Amino acid sequence: MKLRIRVPATTANLGPGFDCLGLALDWWNTIEIETIARGLQVECDCPDGVDIPLNRHNLVVYGIDAVYRLAKQKRPPLRIHLTTHIPIASGLGSSSAPIVGGLIAANVLLGNLYSRDELVTLATRIEGHPDNVAPALLGGLMVAAIDGKQVTVARFPVPRELRCVLFVPKVTLLTKKSRGVLPKRIPRADAIYNASRVALWIAALRERRWDWLEVATQDRLHQPYRAKLVPGMYELFNAAKDAGARGAALSGAGPTIIAFANHQGEPVARAMAQTARRIGLEGMTRVVGVSAKGAQVTRSD
Ligand code: HSE
Repeated sequence: MKLRIRVPATTANLGPGFDCLGLALDWWNTIEIETIARGLQVECDCPDGVDIPLNRHNLVVYGIDAVYRLAKQKRPPLRIHLTTHIPIASGLGSSSAPIVGGLIAANVLLGNLYSRDELVTLATRIEGHPDNVAPALLGGLMVAAIDGKQVTVARFPVPRELRCVLFVPKVTLLTKKSRGVLPKRIPRADAIYNASRVALWIAALRERRWDWLEVATQDRLHQPYRAKLVPGMYELFNAAKDAGARGAALSGAGPTIIAFANHQGEPVARAMAQTARRIGLEGMTRVVGVSAKGAQVTRSD
């Protein structure tokens, strides 16, 4: 059996929705999987400088093994070919994408034993938080709430005109390090500040009230603490908004900066690139739409 799985990049948090809001982007990794006679072969078409394990420690294999363990079955011999476009350790779901790809592949190989909701719960257990894995699996804008072992996810429609403008710094930042600077406790006023803005985000998209995004993208739970790990964060937010973006945030745990526009994103991207050059930050800009679809699988026998 041969499978081809496409998994989108994702942006988590969207400012205030720390560990609970995420959006699928129209930017994809591809995983091809084939059953073979024996062994495990993992190959990767990766951008230069990207070094990922090509053995059972690969995140796709990790995802596959998690499903087989759950099903109490043994993984069959496989050849896995990865084509990786999503930048690594940049806050764009580069670890969720292979995990989700692996879960979906294993589920198809096992005859679809598990529902997508069950896969979201399993993916969340592996990744530690649901905000990248939920949109990677299901697409669109996702809200995820954890209750004990159960993850409840809700999907919201996103206006087609939403453009995400990314500045992806050349330097990477590991999620673990970026979570390490966060306080264990937060003031009640900050919890209220963020809870109100998460609700406002959802309302802004439903009502197409782009003018609400300036407030809806504000955050007090993580960005102020992470700013010291992300040089130029506030300068890039301001550059994007001055050029017409409706709001800006740190993408996931960073260091990518994401700005939201409801028109062509190119002027915003140019302004972000110009500001980055001025303050001596290396990186690239990219304008992407939102993907209403999550991971896609096609099968040939
Ligand atoms: N919500 C997570 C964080 C996303 O901000 O740490 C990490 O990918």
